[in-house]
Amino acid sequence: MGFLYAVLIIYVTLVGKASESNSAPAIFVFGDSLVDSGNNNYIPTLAKSNYPPYGITTGRFSNGKLAVDLIAELLGLPYPPPYCDPSTNGPQMLRGVNYASAASGILDDTGEQYDEFLYFVPMGPIPLSKQIDNFRETATRIFGLFGQNVTAMNVYMSRVLVIMSVGNSDYLNNYLRPDLYTTSTQYSPLAFSNLLVQQIGHQLLALYNTGVRRFVVYSLGPIGCTPNQLVGQNCNDRVNQMVVLFNSALRSLIIDLNLHFPGANLAYGDVYGIVSDVLINPTPYGFSVSIQGCCVVDTGRAQWNCIAGIAPCSNRNAYVFWDSLHPTEALNRIIAQRSYAGPQSDIYPFNIQQLALR
Ligand SMILES: *[C@@H]1O[C@H](CO)[C@@H](O)[C@H](O)[C@H]1NC(C)=O
Repeated sequence: MGFLYAVLIIYVTLVGKASESNSAPAIFVFGDSLVDSGNNNYIPTLAKSNYPPYGITTGRFSNGKLAVDLIAELLGLPYPPPYCDPSTNGPQMLRGVNYASAASGILDDTGEQYDEFLYFVPMGPIPLSKQIDNFRETATRIFGLFGQNVTAMNVYMSRVLVIMSVGNSDYLNNYLRPDLYTTSTQYSPLAFSNLLVQQIGHQLLALYNTGVRRFVVYSLGPIGCTPNQLVGQNCNDRVNQMVVLFNSALRSLIIDLNLHFPGANLAYGDVYGIVSDVLINPTPYGFSVSIQGCCVVDTGRAQWNCIAGIAPCSNRNAYVFWDSLHPTEALNRIIAQRSYAGPQSDIYPFNIQQLALR
């Protein structure tokens, strides 16, 4: 009883304070390397970024903060800590947890090429379905922190914010790798995009069934314009066309679920539009380089990663990309700000600021 009382005091102090300026007590994050804040550090996988020149904050695929970290700042919340970090425990979970895993996908086998073997068992990135299982485990623990009070739990869950950014790996590490995966012979680009978005729908329903009511789901960015995918100095149109199919199916799904999940509010964050905007008109944002990343990248098995220990460029804020695939903090900041407070053309039908008050 004493423990529960202490937990409630901490909860009231922490969450009570945050709710003075907003009403989202926590952020729970799902997805891939664009939002992984360090889970892969604890997993046997080659998809890691816990070494210089990555991160002032290690384990993030950027030079600094991710968009979800910056959104947490805007909401007055701490950076959601990695689920796989053994110190992510107790009442701090009430303010959010990050389940994302670099190189993972919507499909369970996406990213398996980065697996390492632990006692002869292949172990790798955590797919979306398993991330949701991990969230359910957290929710059970949170229910315990609330002393199994159903009312308190329901109120809390209806106010937390879920942020999902997933699907990049299902293209980069699966569909676009016919040397490793058969999906491109099994599915047309349209059928594949529908398969992926249908899976997202199942996972959003699973989250809805745990009581979550506020969701932000990000589109894919223009993957064909990342340094890794350029054709000469031009964006790879074939890749971007696939991405556009995925994004339009995802946008329709979000509109549909707003009608079919009673009491829920879901927003579609148009990263594709925001990043395209920056790429077309980089100068006002302070960018001068978008055809290569700031760090020197590996051309071997860990294709788009920075090579350990080699000094990056000196003017990181002038670069759109950090390595050959991932945004710099400067670009992440634009994505965070525009999805937090931007117009409907950036995030539809409401931005995060509005969502946190609904
Ligand atoms: C359960 O939580 C609700 C809402 O916080 C509160 O009003 C109620 O008193 C709690 N019930 C018990 C038995 O502690």
